[in-house]
Amino acid sequence: MDNRPIGVFDSGLGGLTAVKELEKVLPGESLVYFGDTGRVPYGTRSREVIRRYAKQDMDFLLRHKVKAVLAACGTVSSAAADIGARLPVPYFDVVAPTARAAALATKNRRIGVLGTSATIHSGSYTKAIQQIDESLEVFPQACPLFVPLTENGFISPEEELVRIVVERYLEPVRGAGVDTVILGCTHYPLLSEAIGRAMGPGVTLINSGEEAALALAGALEKTGALCAPGQGRSAEFYVTDAPENFSTVAELFLGHSVEGTRVDITFD
Ligand code: SIN
Repeated sequence: MDNRPIGVFDSGLGGLTAVKELEKVLPGESLVYFGDTGRVPYGTRSREVIRRYAKQDMDFLLRHKVKAVLAACGTVSSAAADIGARLPVPYFDVVAPTARAAALATKNRRIGVLGTSATIHSGSYTKAIQQIDESLEVFPQACPLFVPLTENGFISPEEELVRIVVERYLEPVRGAGVDTVILGCTHYPLLSEAIGRAMGPGVTLINSGEEAALALAGALEKTGALCAPGQGRSAEFYVTDAPENFSTVAELFLGHSVEGTRVDITFD
């Protein structure tokens, strides 16, 4: 048994897609969430900057004495997995579990990958999928405007702006005839209704935040590292700017209050 909290971080609110799943599958665990809302987006930045931010985010969680770190961010997972692998606690990210889920889901062996510019440029999902089965065909598409849209609350498929941007990015992916699409940035599931409509029926969307949360939950269970019954259940949320915006979207998305969200920018 390990009563320490699980640490989850992202550039902003996308990591809440992992938190939602963790709350569902591990309701007895405590969580510390860190969202770098003051510096989001990460996905349009250079690899060096993403790695520096990722290191600071992981150190933040370690200072909060977490028992495991989940990089619930496609961009960090793609650019800084080696930094995570050196942490003194188990590290999880979104790429491998999401690639596995997509490889299992596809029937026609054609998989679309949506991600930030940094993620798509790294080729992380393509490599992970083709390590599973090199005959799978992968169609990557950078969608740099999806993060600013979601961070500003533009998520409804009825919103004209959302429809135009989603349609523009998805047209080539739809044209490739994929039957499975990886939402390779944890912000993107917030747009899954709009993305699902644009892709049409019969296309499976794979939620990277959910897949990473399930992988982490399975590993903690397997290693006996869950909280003792009745010892967990707290959730602390930290951001680096604008806690009110974060709380509003987080409460809508998680279905419960995150009113104690604190601002902390004490980076090393
Ligand atoms: C971003 O900050 O650009 C998105 C984070 C992600 O890739 O999940």
